[in-house]
Amino acid sequence: MPGREVPRSMTAQTLIDTAQALVAGDKGLLAMDESNATCNKRFAALGIPQTADARRDWRELIVTAPSLGACISGAILFDETLRQQTKTGTPFAKALADVGIIPGIKVDTGAKPLAGHPGETVTEGLDGLRERLAEYAGMGARFAKWRGVITPGAGLPSRACIEVNAHALARYAALCQEVGIVPIVEPEVLMEGDHSLARCKEITEEVLDVVFVQLRSQGVLLEGLLLKPNMVLPGQACPTQETVDEVADATMSCLLRTVPAAVPGVAFLSGGQSAQLASARLNAMNLRFKSQLPWALAFSYSRAVQQPALDAWKGDTANVASAQKALVHRARCNQAARRGDYDAMADAPK
Ligand code: 13P
Repeated sequence: MPGREVPRSMTAQTLIDTAQALVAGDKGLLAMDESNATCNKRFAALGIPQTADARRDWRELIVTAPSLGACISGAILFDETLRQQTKTGTPFAKALADVGIIPGIKVDTGAKPLAGHPGETVTEGLDGLRERLAEYAGMGARFAKWRGVITPGAGLPSRACIEVNAHALARYAALCQEVGIVPIVEPEVLMEGDHSLARCKEITEEVLDVVFVQLRSQGVLLEGLLLKPNMVLPGQACPTQETVDEVADATMSCLLRTVPAAVPGVAFLSGGQSAQLASARLNAMNLRFKSQLPWALAFSYSRAVQQPALDAWKGDTANVASAQKALVHRARCNQAARRGDYDAMADAPK
């Protein structure tokens, strides 16, 4: 089914402008939209109190990190954070916008067990989404995120899991575009497991094919969205771990087959890769393929940008400056990777 013609309505133009701004130049996105449960889990591992105040302090540390706006184009917030303020009383969305970072919002309500399909999930959050999006737009959010989860395994994923998640991603994307919010479409094939890189490629290709069929059939404007996919990787427990260049080749071959040229940008998730590998692999893709690609190749990492900073902070005010330094360092490494300029040797863990 053909995609919708580009309507040059004001809303369509807003979508196109925002999507392009998010992947312009060499900046990327920062995912700081962990749900309270996920944020608490990461805090617990470091002995940080699992409270709304501690989450607020952590998000303030991120948003006020010096020069973050020089390397980050947009930041994805969780509902709680969008409603919080800095200590001086500035809402986080405004604090971001003041340093040139576009505020975004995670709008799915999480991956829930898929009926009849043990071990698989469907992401929920469509009920009432139109009203929530209108509220978020009023609070300054200009883009949104929804993550569908695909789990490789014996006989998995099922076609049913791929289809329901793709259908939900497209319904979410259409609702976002209705109010001028750019949808980030995130179908994640997990890297947990012992599957091979070849199997990840096969699954990712099928998933992206189905996602774009759904986006087209539901009339989503491809020029006004961003794709946030996984890289094509061997499972973490797979005995064969391909090189950085092999991962770059497999990922690019997969995306070139499946992602329409009308899409302005691809911004990868990090998915549990180390911070250094996430930078090195993005760098290899840009270095070797950028001139052949119809879309920008950017990042939308959470763990690969935040984790070293969280490890440095540990919930202690005395560590704020060193944590901010670690955060901006990772953002700058990924900015360099967008240009194909990342120096993996200089960035090796000491
Ligand atoms: P990771 O980069 O930690 O995978 O997180 C990205 C994200 O936004 C997951 O939804």
